[in-house]
Amino acid sequence: MRTMIIGCGYVGLPLGAELVKLGHEVFGLRRSADGDEELKAAGIAPLHADITQPQTLATLPTDFDWVVNCAASGGGGPDEYRRLYLQGTRNLIEWFALGSAGVPPAVGAWSCEGTRRRDAGAPRFVYTSSTGVYGQNDGSVVKETSPTEPATETAKVLVETEKVLLAAAREQNFPAVVLRVAGIYGPDRGYLLKQYLKNEARIEGNGGRILNMIHRDDLIGAIIAALKNGRPGEIYNAVDDEPVSQFTFFQWLAGTLGKDMPPSAPEDAEANRKPGVTNKRVSNRRLKMELGYQFKYPNFRKGYTAEIMRLEAAGELDIEPRTGESA
Ligand SMILES: NC(=O)c1ccc[n+]([C@@H]2O[C@H](COP(=O)([O-])OP(=O)(O)OC[C@H]3O[C@@H](n4cnc5c(N)ncnc54)[C@H](OP(=O)(O)O)[C@@H]3O)[C@@H](O)[C@H]2O)c1
Repeated sequence: MRTMIIGCGYVGLPLGAELVKLGHEVFGLRRSADGDEELKAAGIAPLHADITQPQTLATLPTDFDWVVNCAASGGGGPDEYRRLYLQGTRNLIEWFALGSAGVPPAVGAWSCEGTRRRDAGAPRFVYTSSTGVYGQNDGSVVKETSPTEPATETAKVLVETEKVLLAAAREQNFPAVVLRVAGIYGPDRGYLLKQYLKNEARIEGNGGRILNMIHRDDLIGAIIAALKNGRPGEIYNAVDDEPVSQFTFFQWLAGTLGKDMPPSAPEDAEANRKPGVTNKRVSNRRLKMELGYQFKYPNFRKGYTAEIMRLEAAGELDIEPRTGESA
């Protein structure tokens, strides 16, 4: 398939490399040329544009079979979210609707199959949203049909962005699939492990809050499964099999690395009422049942074991001995 990846960062670049290995023709879009050599080394053809600036898209080709939008704001507040995710998504829908020549496709030309005629309109489009759209704070199981009423302004923008895509799928036959992605970890990324190794991790209260994660390799696999088999207008949670409490996560790290548990942060009675602090178990049933995805790292133990082994082999695993342990 002729595939474009918008945002070739932590996820997009290895996703592109994997698709190249699978025999696809891959283009990678970023704003600057800084990463061009890395993209080319992976067999990805670099393209440059800013999805918040529609005029920069106008001259690019649109004849793709598959498109993945995994551009990220790299932080930023609601205004930046609105610019990149919401307006960026609207710009992309319009760009594909018109085509690079500015000519709308024939009515009904957008295909809902995994493939399409090159001149037939919009490609299969996967967007990496976030499980942050679920605002639940009661430890309940959430699935794709659960309410999305997040407390933070940034997560509200992501809900709005999803609505734009789902409406385009419903009303314009735009073949968009939404993946709601949990906390990504993997090589060189894993905030909690990094904090723990630096002795900066803290357990919140009794550590009962549930964490939802996915290894980067599995996210790449889930995106490819969604490109191949995702149903336009549908949402799939991209999260591993085992939501885990903060306490259990650190207990496993402590046991595995032979290091003390992190101290508890002073009990903050308001902590669970702070906007954005969610506590939920995100279900991956649909990803597994409908897209048939099989996880390489079905839980944090498998994924973090791989990362710890990688750090160890690279000589980068710096473990302070367990305090109070005799030499
Ligand atoms: N991190 C998480 O735990 C998490 C959780 C849920 C969902 N997600 C989602 O997962 C996806 C992948 O995230 P990631 O960690 O791979 O992000 P990343 O490493 O920060 O990469 C983001 C990429 O987007 C490009 N980009 C940023 N703004 C752009 C723009 N206006 N136009 C075109 N390209 C732009 C950046 O390149 P340039 O700077 O060169 O343009 C970069 O290549 C994102 O959609 C993110 O929102 C992440």
